[in-house]
Amino acid sequence: MTVYVFVCVMIAAVAGLIFGYDIGVSGGVTAMDDFLKDFFPAVWERKKHVHENNYCKYDNQFLQLFTSSLYLAALVASFLASASCSKLGRKPTMQLASIFFLLGVGLTAGAVNLIMLIFGRILLGFGVGFGNQAVPLFLSEIAPAQLRGGLNIVFQLMVTIGILIANIVNYFTATVHPYGWRIALGGAGIPAIILLFGSLIICETPTSLIERNKNEEGKKALRKIRGVEDINDEYESIVHACDIASQVKDPYRKLLKPASRPPFIIGMLLQLFQQFTGINAIMFYAPVLFQTVGFGSDAALLSAVVTGSINVLSTFVGIYLVDRTGRRFLLLQSSVHMLVCQLIIGIILAKDLGTTGTLGKPQAITVVIFVCVYVMGFAWSWGPLGWLIPSETFPLETRSAGFAVAVSCNMFFTFVIAQAFLSMLCGMRSGIFFFFSAWIIVMGLFAMFFVPETKGVAIDDMRESVWKPHWFWKRYMLAEDDHHDVEKRTD
Ligand code: BGC
Repeated sequence: MTVYVFVCVMIAAVAGLIFGYDIGVSGGVTAMDDFLKDFFPAVWERKKHVHENNYCKYDNQFLQLFTSSLYLAALVASFLASASCSKLGRKPTMQLASIFFLLGVGLTAGAVNLIMLIFGRILLGFGVGFGNQAVPLFLSEIAPAQLRGGLNIVFQLMVTIGILIANIVNYFTATVHPYGWRIALGGAGIPAIILLFGSLIICETPTSLIERNKNEEGKKALRKIRGVEDINDEYESIVHACDIASQVKDPYRKLLKPASRPPFIIGMLLQLFQQFTGINAIMFYAPVLFQTVGFGSDAALLSAVVTGSINVLSTFVGIYLVDRTGRRFLLLQSSVHMLVCQLIIGIILAKDLGTTGTLGKPQAITVVIFVCVYVMGFAWSWGPLGWLIPSETFPLETRSAGFAVAVSCNMFFTFVIAQAFLSMLCGMRSGIFFFFSAWIIVMGLFAMFFVPETKGVAIDDMRESVWKPHWFWKRYMLAEDDHHDVEKRTD
């Protein structure tokens, strides 16, 4: 690992930080009275009558749209970003991301009406779509092969650090009246500037240059990032991979072929499941949720800082374990772990939190503790693995397209949770935790029967070592072989 690669990794990972910051900041801001008064007076009015209905005081489609619009925009943007990644390169795509981020920050922090606010969130969403597509690709293309898995999770680590920073900023700016929320939303401008200027220093990846027939520049870039003169082996293998990939004219069509089905289906379902663990109900709305169970505004924001810290620390556990115990163990262990937490939280709320009144101190503290234990389980499993598995199971020719579909599925389900959670909390009350529990059972069973172990398998050997021997997925591989046979015979 050269110093130059290290610098490039750090700069690129700043995009993860901004993504995390945007996830964390919205919940804090929506719990601030100054913000509600300016943009969502109806919610503010309802909140003043705190004891009227615990579960429904934040239920407002526009308030949810403030959070969710970002993910809808990111969904659309990730397809544009995938085209931009292959036509323009990874580096300009990151630069575009930073420009979207800066414009979005300016509009949201300076907003004087709801339109500016939502429009700003949409621009931030474009930043997220472009960043989340380009950065993981960039990281895995400049990383030395033996560090690829760990570096991939660095992106998730930065996301969690971004969420934590946002939680801390929320905590402090909540006491700054009346513009604390502007500072909180404007905070994302600092990493956006770092990304903009930083992305001038970083290089384009050799793969991206060679893919666009700039072979000499690709060689130069490879020498620079590896810090040695003799890069021929790696150069040849990139050229070879690019040759194969260039024979596939339409990777999206190829994704629909039977042989692509295992990584395609797993990649999409992991995104659905990752979001239906209910994690973002907590990441977006932790302060709101903690107020719902009866904490004051301050204590609620502070609890979000605690869950944010646990999220960061537990991600390190994931980095440590993922190549030791393997992916399956983490997915299965955490399914049981998260299920127990959701059930306990649901039972306490069902028993002790009526529509009015608050929880007793001991019950409220128990809820916070189990929220923390739950976040722990997510952070070392479904969080990072939701991104890692789709990035390592597609063959090169469909990798970028497959990953783009996974990113946009993730954004879609994140959007669904962001848009629906507060209404679901209002309609289902404590039942929402049983709803997520049911999903966790489904995803645990899915992981048990359908997600094979990919620990230590070379990235281009998945078909032979993973799919072909798998009790279920092998049928698509056999179908493909038959198909080849038929083709050969008719030849
Ligand atoms: C998920 C985000 C989530 C975050 C929490 C990520 O893997 O994609 O939706 O907010 O983890 O740390």
